[in-house]
Amino acid sequence: METSCQEIIASRVAGLIAAEVASNPSICLGLPTGRTPAKMYAELVKLSRQNNLDWSRVCGFALDEYLDVDETQSFSHYLSVNLYDGVGLPAANRFNPSESGDDYDALIAARGGLDITILGIGLNGHIAFNEPGTPAESWTHSIVLTPSTIDANRELFKGAGRIPTRAVTMGISTILGSRRIILMAFGEKKRSILDQALTGPISPEIPASFLQQHDSLQVFTDFERAQACRLD
Ligand code: PGA
Repeated sequence: METSCQEIIASRVAGLIAAEVASNPSICLGLPTGRTPAKMYAELVKLSRQNNLDWSRVCGFALDEYLDVDETQSFSHYLSVNLYDGVGLPAANRFNPSESGDDYDALIAARGGLDITILGIGLNGHIAFNEPGTPAESWTHSIVLTPSTIDANRELFKGAGRIPTRAVTMGISTILGSRRIILMAFGEKKRSILDQALTGPISPEIPASFLQQHDSLQVFTDFERAQACRLD
């Protein structure tokens, strides 16, 4: 079977993270959830096992978390199942903003800051759950999700009864404070918002546009724009 562009990107990003973990065993990672990183996490778990990677001192900081959700639908559950349990990240090194609230940024700083933050992008231009209107000067905070985000999540909450409406998220300043940022965007429907974010005016209306201000941003897409599959 032909390997899809998404699979190529997933293994590439996984390879890159694995190499960073190998060279910096106490690396701090900002970690997304959702559909975009799922294959990459599966690859990363596979690579970690193949190479006996030591995750005992790595710190994982979830980008965001719902405030009104069952445990099995939470991002902390997602990260445990898709990454942490598979690579053996100790429970003490798994951080989640819903547990630390306002102290999340202090916690990140105390661990030396984020070395690499991986992001997806929402159809409305959000990064983590920084919805349109979020200023650049924002740290970890709680938010009410926009109707567009709630709608995009509908598919993920099929049969779960209630779709969460509130969350806590790293702020734009938290994310821009990361030494390196990797943004992944898959599917034609993300093309337009990614274009606006990367080439349009920098504005709180498209929170991802603030990424233009970061000097170590890498973008991986499966559509023509960045020709990501052809990068070496
Ligand atoms: P998705 O979400 O990966 O499920 O498309 C991306 C996001 O909302 O950041």
